[in-house]
Amino acid sequence: MPGDPLRARYIATSYLDDVRQVNEVRNMLGFTGTYRGSPVSIQGSGMGVPSIQIYATELVQHFGVERIVRVGSCGALQDDLDLGDVVVAIGAGTDSTVNRRRLGGRDFPATADYGLLRAVADQAGEHGLNARVGNVFTSDTFYEPEGSDTFELLERYGFLAVEMEAAGLYGVAAEYGAAALTVATVSDQLKRGEHLSAEERQSSFDAMITLVLDAVTG
Ligand code: HPA
Repeated sequence: MPGDPLRARYIATSYLDDVRQVNEVRNMLGFTGTYRGSPVSIQGSGMGVPSIQIYATELVQHFGVERIVRVGSCGALQDDLDLGDVVVAIGAGTDSTVNRRRLGGRDFPATADYGLLRAVADQAGEHGLNARVGNVFTSDTFYEPEGSDTFELLERYGFLAVEMEAAGLYGVAAEYGAAALTVATVSDQLKRGEHLSAEERQSSFDAMITLVLDAVTG
C-alpha cells in the first residue's frame, strides 16, 4: 500500500505481471497481478490514519488479504539517518486515538509482524539499502503547529522518524488478525532541513519497492 494512488499504478505497471486494475472509486487506484509468480495486489492508502484504516479494513474483511506492507516516506528525527535510508517500523507511537478506542481506552502496542519485518530487514543490504529497524511516530499532523517541541521529544525517546499511517495499519491488522509492516524511505531529514529531490525520491522508491516485493514473495 503506497499512500499515493498514482504510485500504486506505477508499482503495478512497472513490477507486476498479468496486472489488472480493480479499483478506481475516489481515484484510490487498486491493482492486482503477480510478482515472480506470486499473487500481489497494490492498493493506494491515501494519507493519514483514517484513510489507510478504511482501505486496509476492506482489503482484509472483504478480500481476504492476510499480509499488508505500507511502502511510504517519512521524516527522520535522528542525526544518524540520511536521506534515502529506509526505516522499517517495528513499532509505532501515535497521537491518533484510534487504537485506544479499539481497546476501550487502554494503550495498544502497535507493532509490525515479525516475519515480514525480518524478511525486509534481512534483505535490505542485498538491495543496496541502509535499513534501520526501530519505532516511528504516526502523526495526525504533517505541519506541526508553530513553536511545537514534538520532534525534540520524539527524538529523545528514540523514534527514528515521523509518518502518518503505521499505527493505524497495525491497529487494523491486530483487530482482524492480519500481518502488517510499514517500510518508509527517509524523504525529509527534519533535523537538518534536507529533502530528497523528485528524481532521488523516485530512485529510492524503486529500491524500496523491489526490496519489499522480493522479501514478501521470496
Ligand atoms: N512528516 C510526516 N510524514 C512525512 C514526513 C514528515 O515530515 N515526510 C514524509 N512523510
